[in-house]
Amino acid sequence: MLPCQRAEFDIPRDVTYLNAASWSPLPRAVQEAGARGIALKARPWGITAEHMAGQFTRARAAAARLINAEPADVALIPSISYGVAVAGRILPVAAGSRVLVLGDDHSSPVLEWLQRAPEGGYSVETVARPADGDWTAAILAAIGRPGAAALSLVSISSVHWADGGLVDLAAVDAARRQAGAMLLVDATHHAGVLPLDVAALDPDILIFPTYKWVLGPYGRAFLYVAPRWQGGVPLEQTGAGRRRVSSEATPYLADLDFTDGAKRFDMGERDHLIGLEMAAVGMEMMADWGCEAIAARLGWLNDMLVDGLAGSGVEVPDKRAPHVLSLGFPGGMPAGLVEALAAEGVHVAPRLGRLRISPHVYNDEADVAAFLRVFRGLV
Ligand SMILES: Cc1ncc(COP(=O)(O)O)c(C=O)c1O
Repeated sequence: MLPCQRAEFDIPRDVTYLNAASWSPLPRAVQEAGARGIALKARPWGITAEHMAGQFTRARAAAARLINAEPADVALIPSISYGVAVAGRILPVAAGSRVLVLGDDHSSPVLEWLQRAPEGGYSVETVARPADGDWTAAILAAIGRPGAAALSLVSISSVHWADGGLVDLAAVDAARRQAGAMLLVDATHHAGVLPLDVAALDPDILIFPTYKWVLGPYGRAFLYVAPRWQGGVPLEQTGAGRRRVSSEATPYLADLDFTDGAKRFDMGERDHLIGLEMAAVGMEMMADWGCEAIAARLGWLNDMLVDGLAGSGVEVPDKRAPHVLSLGFPGGMPAGLVEALAAEGVHVAPRLGRLRISPHVYNDEADVAAFLRVFRGLV
């Protein structure tokens, strides 16, 4: 299990921050990378094409390492919804077929398909939240539902953002494969924290951002595109996505064929030299710690919380991810609970009527004790 990494962050002892699933604090090293980027942009005569190329390579490689991808299969994008919009453009969802999404999943892996369905002539089927919290069984049942329309695509988060339910991706992957469907994974609450291997899983699309679990800035995310879809037309038409569009040579638009690999899907203004290095440093820290050691620590903290909550009447999903503990309240969450916790320095998130607790590597036993003490005083 990973030892506590609080010293790498700037978190006062009287702050109990249990909200990484919303947005994580930045490690000191990531803050320093940001300061370096700002200093460079403040005096931009130091910026070179080599520096920028190095930034793209480093960020792509760091992202690829977290999901066991080839860097060439990863594009630099700003958000999950951007990545899903790319998927909407390049994945062939057949008319008359269905797209499967999760009930109350985050909007980003869902809205693109709802928006496109009328024009595409397909339907979007929502897998209802199962009473026992077993998302995997519910998805498998929906994939195999007798009499249902052909399945084109499963577009899901692998860890449910609101209830912390963990989807068994290998089982879903096998079933969707048998059904001849494509797979899009929103790995927002997965990449870096839990094992993820796109070489073994072979999803069509997988996307994750940096501002939550992988300790980076906003506006930086990564899009894995399976090689079989890399011939698609990108969302944005950028010079960097073409073979030879150089601002330093004529003719300017010299070769408009697309570049090879997922690079063609890189966002416009990808030269975000402040955020890119921050993102790379955060992801490298996560990879160096290793997801097994991280997940062991976060699972240990959450298990202590579950033990401490015994008898309090809260409901804990069985099939939960180790790092996200989302409490249900049979009579509804008490009004003002999250605000009252925050007033005592304990930071968690309200999500769809539940109380979501999401520790990270900077949390320790003192944070668990602080949460339990304040929670018991309030509930
Ligand atoms: C599962 C999931 N997907 C996506 C996002 C963010 O989406 P976007 O990057 O499109 O803003 C969140 C943010 O809470 C999330 O929890």
